[in-house]
Amino acid sequence: MAQGYQLSRALYVAAELGVADALAAGPLDAGALADAVGARPDELARVVRALIASGVFTEATDGRFALNDAGTCLRRDAPGDTRAIVLNFGEEMYRAFGELLHTVRTGQPGFDAVYGQPVFDYYTTHPEAEASGSARMRARSLLVARDLATAELFADASTVVDVGGGVGTVVAAVLRAHPRLSGVLYERRSVARLAAAYLAEQGVGDRCRIVEGDFFASVPDGGDVYLLKSVLHDWDDDRCRTILTRCRDAMGPRARLAIVEIVLPDHATEDPALVPGALLDLIMLAYVGGRERTWSEFTALLDAAGLAPHDASALPSGPHLIEARVA
Ligand SMILES: C[S@@+](CC[C@H](N)C(=O)[O-])C[C@H]1O[C@@H](n2cnc3c(N)ncnc32)[C@H](O)[C@@H]1O
Repeated sequence: MAQGYQLSRALYVAAELGVADALAAGPLDAGALADAVGARPDELARVVRALIASGVFTEATDGRFALNDAGTCLRRDAPGDTRAIVLNFGEEMYRAFGELLHTVRTGQPGFDAVYGQPVFDYYTTHPEAEASGSARMRARSLLVARDLATAELFADASTVVDVGGGVGTVVAAVLRAHPRLSGVLYERRSVARLAAAYLAEQGVGDRCRIVEGDFFASVPDGGDVYLLKSVLHDWDDDRCRTILTRCRDAMGPRARLAIVEIVLPDHATEDPALVPGALLDLIMLAYVGGRERTWSEFTALLDAAGLAPHDASALPSGPHLIEARVA
């Protein structure tokens, strides 16, 4: 555990330099690889060997480095875009986590301590960081998007409103699976711009309206299904009650709200299956000042916003789908 960040940094360096892309055409020795990525041969070879020992890339007996399955995941064009996750976790996220002790002592998110402002404010004035954060979010949402595309929820719906839907990862997958469904993607202006390109690329641009706005002020009305995926965990309870109330204000009497989040257990036990949720909770602590929640914490938030849980189930990819209706 104490050394975890060392391997993480090595992975980040390989991803940032584009080692996997340089090896795509075939094995290279350290000199040729270093030339291709703009690094120094000995130093790069040592980083790559640390990764090889952990299962990323291989080295032949002639000393040439090559791709294996794990290394191939780091290519820019790899399905799933793992590289986007590695890069973003190695950038602002890494620096924010460096201040975890400060966060635990003071309550201030590490991100705010390092960058002097909350993450979404910073993103608004730093388009490269916004693009990196959105790419990481898209990559991490792909599996859930696939689960949701086949969920019963949309079977009899006409319009789905994805509130804080990012670049449209989920709404695009859902629209592709349901050709008669229309979508509304509701986002901050700087993400809405990125979403237009993604939705067009996914072939659903003509069925999804992009609405720019602030979910603390209002949420578009007219939806049969309102989606809130990985949104509530970015915020404290007060802010969540506001977001949920804005959704409720927009929802007609028959509309449904679909919240997709990890549901934490009431008590911690030693269990590898609980590690992803516990670490996601730390990301929320260090990065945005939000939190993961238990079932009773979700029901209390819903209740305060005039909503009632109707159904909840774990998706194959891990998080829960919590369906709520107007109480
Ligand atoms: C963790 S991301 C989730 C994105 C998407 N739902 C997904 O799961 O892939 C949270 C999203 O909330 C958006 N967001 C943050 N503050 C917002 C606000 N005040 N109004 C609308 N969207 C906001 C962010 O731009 C970001 O894309």
